[in-house]
Amino acid sequence: MSSVSWPAAATSTAEYLEIVPIGRQHIAGYHAALDGIAKERRYLAMLEAPSFLRTRRFVLDSLRTGAVHVVAVAADGVVGWCDLRPKAAPTLRHTAVLGMGIVAAYRGRGIGSRLLADTLELAWAQGIRRSELIVRADNLPAIALYRRFGFVTEGTCRKYLCVDGHDIDALLMARLGG
Ligand SMILES: CC(C)(COP(=O)(O)OP(=O)(O)OC[C@H]1O[C@@H](n2cnc3c(N)ncnc32)[C@H](O)[C@@H]1OP(=O)(O)O)[C@@H](O)C(=O)NCCC(=O)NCCS
Repeated sequence: MSSVSWPAAATSTAEYLEIVPIGRQHIAGYHAALDGIAKERRYLAMLEAPSFLRTRRFVLDSLRTGAVHVVAVAADGVVGWCDLRPKAAPTLRHTAVLGMGIVAAYRGRGIGSRLLADTLELAWAQGIRRSELIVRADNLPAIALYRRFGFVTEGTCRKYLCVDGHDIDALLMARLGG
């Protein structure tokens, strides 16, 4: 499961990654990965990461409240993450909100699939029965990944984001069960 090393891809490289629950030692790397992907301006709602201190508090708080948060760690540090944060209201605690990202150089090697599989398995074991997310409608790789894992589009959030003056639709997607 999450704690074992695994080949990043069936390639000739001897590169190995580890998929592990996030720990304090990963927070700086997670923050850098989040910041880099946000600054691509094509995928996330945020356009840069929150400050390191806010990110650290967010990670530690969400772990205390039962979130699942795993990271992919390569030789040069954190290269991706996936997190599922349960909602707070008593009627919504079986529902969790998903976020994920892989730094650009590591995309397309199966890391996102592996992170998502491990995250969903851990969340199911913790009683999460509905996983949901909002994804930009133009983020075709992410939408394909989510569909492959059984996420279904429940609706379109019209003009949900505005980036550099352009309004962009987003999809609400959700997956029931483990
Ligand atoms: C979306 C993302 C997490 C996928 O991670 P990844 O490690 O590149 O994905 P994988 O290599 O595991 O590929 C899994 C599936 O994703 C889809 N996919 C990945 N790259 C794709 C591409 N360039 N075009 C179309 N589909 C793609 C495919 O369905 C693929 O399955 P397949 O290889 O059997 O066809 C990654 O592209 C990413 O971090 N993007 C930027 C951040 C982001 O979009 N986060 C999600 C915000 S909601």
